[in-house]
Amino acid sequence: MLLTITGKDALISAKNVVVLTGAGISAESGVPTFRGEGGLWRNFRAEELATPEAFEANPKLVWEWYDWRRQLLKPLKPNKGHEVIARFEKRFPEFLLITQNVDGLHEKAGSKKMVELHGNIWKVKCLKEGKVTDNFEVPLSRIPPSCECGAMLRPHIVWFGESLPYDAIQQAYRAANECDVMLVVGTSTVVQPAASLPIIAKENGAHVIEVNTEETPISSIVNESLIGKAGDILPEIERLIDL
Ligand code: OAD
Repeated sequence: MLLTITGKDALISAKNVVVLTGAGISAESGVPTFRGEGGLWRNFRAEELATPEAFEANPKLVWEWYDWRRQLLKPLKPNKGHEVIARFEKRFPEFLLITQNVDGLHEKAGSKKMVELHGNIWKVKCLKEGKVTDNFEVPLSRIPPSCECGAMLRPHIVWFGESLPYDAIQQAYRAANECDVMLVVGTSTVVQPAASLPIIAKENGAHVIEVNTEETPISSIVNESLIGKAGDILPEIERLIDL
């Protein structure tokens, strides 16, 4: 299924474009999504492990889950979908990529104008000093890992029940308010506040285009819902607006 003429015109004339991505953009790179097939680890769901309570109760278990995910992610490469989004950044006068993903693949594809709403799996935070540093050790030599100061490190990830970084969410809301077109790619739109961004964009007059392998709660609200793989549909959209 492909873009309507209205969608094509909206993109061609757009001065300000926002792309919101979720786990589905990385599925074709081999990253398991959270919901749906392949989204489970030892029969735990993300909601059971990605919480401050789970970490407090059993930091080793939570770190083992992140260590498993980091091992899966390390060899993976960005796919055509990530690459189109990285090129879109240069094409439109104003652009922002808002991602819920923590896998770092957008950055690997070359995206720079980006807000990582949920943090980054390749960063760790000292529980005592609050200092955030890069950490690419795979697998981790010690679980849970510790800071030079001796305190425990946690993944630099926003967990369920925690607030999103203030600056990141403000930037995302502003962009959703101001954009001409929003592309919503590979997200189940069930986790707030990211899920409200397409609705804000639509209410403020943006043309909202969803790209997903299946319908989601926002499919009936957006201007167009394109069903298919991001790695197929995004290059098709790019080709279409280049014609
Ligand atoms: P989900 O796993 O909830 O949803 C992934 C979406 O991608 C689903 O709607 C799929 O239908 C779709 N999908 C799968 N393969 C696709 C493909 N090749 N092309 C296009 N779409 C595809 O992931 P998110 O919506 O990102 O939070 O989940 C939101 C948050 O919940 C995550 O950021 C994470 C999780 O708990 C944290 O880690 C804090």
